[in-house]
Amino acid sequence: MVRHFLRDDDLTADEQLAVLDLADRMKADNLAFTPLAGRSVATIFEKNSTRTRLSFEVGISQLGGQPIVIDGRTMQLGREETIEDTSRVLSRYVDAVVWRTYAQARIAAMASASRVPVINALTDEFHPCQVLADLQTIRERHGRLAGLTLTYLGDGANNMAHSLLLGGVTAGLHVRVAHPEGFAPLPDVLLAAKKRAADTEGSVTVLSDPHAAVDGADVLVTDSWTSMGQENDGKDRIAPFRPFQVNEALLGRAAPGAIVLHCLPAHRGWEITDEVLDGPASAVWDEAENRLHVQKALLSWAVGA
Ligand code: CP
Ligand code: NVA
Repeated sequence: MVRHFLRDDDLTADEQLAVLDLADRMKADNLAFTPLAGRSVATIFEKNSTRTRLSFEVGISQLGGQPIVIDGRTMQLGREETIEDTSRVLSRYVDAVVWRTYAQARIAAMASASRVPVINALTDEFHPCQVLADLQTIRERHGRLAGLTLTYLGDGANNMAHSLLLGGVTAGLHVRVAHPEGFAPLPDVLLAAKKRAADTEGSVTVLSDPHAAVDGADVLVTDSWTSMGQENDGKDRIAPFRPFQVNEALLGRAAPGAIVLHCLPAHRGWEITDEVLDGPASAVWDEAENRLHVQKALLSWAVGA
């Protein structure tokens, strides 16, 4: 059976752990695994990308495979060809498809017609590869995952919030989401996260008070207040978000030894200050590096190698 990775809960807790363990091994011995030898992977981008594009391209090469990086806006998909027809054709050429697109329904349509694994490289709703890298980074810094408290501050309805909810509770984290009014996570994502948390002894808490949200937290995470595609959505994405900025005062309320993550790109002075991003609690550069290792592990899992 073809396994896709469209959202974080497509991996069971055991599968997520196996991917993270393999990612650690990949990181320790970077070029030792070549499960993609003789295989090709299409990586298609309908939105901008630096980290995801580079880390997949380098990672696929390191695994012995051929990466094919495509600007989705130049494909026939960008004209009139349907997603399903595109998917049928891709399945005849490549061994996996990595896609960054808009609505989650688009990648679900791609997967529904695909004979090869489809991996979500970011949609409006989820960014599951990023959260795998976040989990690898948290485990490196704290030595464990289950039982830690992670607080996300910002747009509770964006891809990072949703993926941290699902991926975080899968790892047994206590996930707190603090957001301004009108930016709550999607109800069905919250429900799915709560259900999964019941199995893993993680938990989900949604708050409107950023101070209460960070009290005693082991990990603080933030993200852009305006995600790609939301630039003209008519919402005030500045004033209501200001109290949620990750700065030294807020970080001071977290647990001793707390770390700070940001998927990047960062908007310095907005959702996070220079002092925090460049300070001792920041793990963002390791987090960015770990995209490479964890995606190599994920691809190995997806192709069954
Ligand atoms: N974090 C992340 O996905 O970065 P890019 O948009 O640069 O790929
Ligand atoms: N939430 C951000 C993440 C960028 C990697 C966006 O979708 O633009």
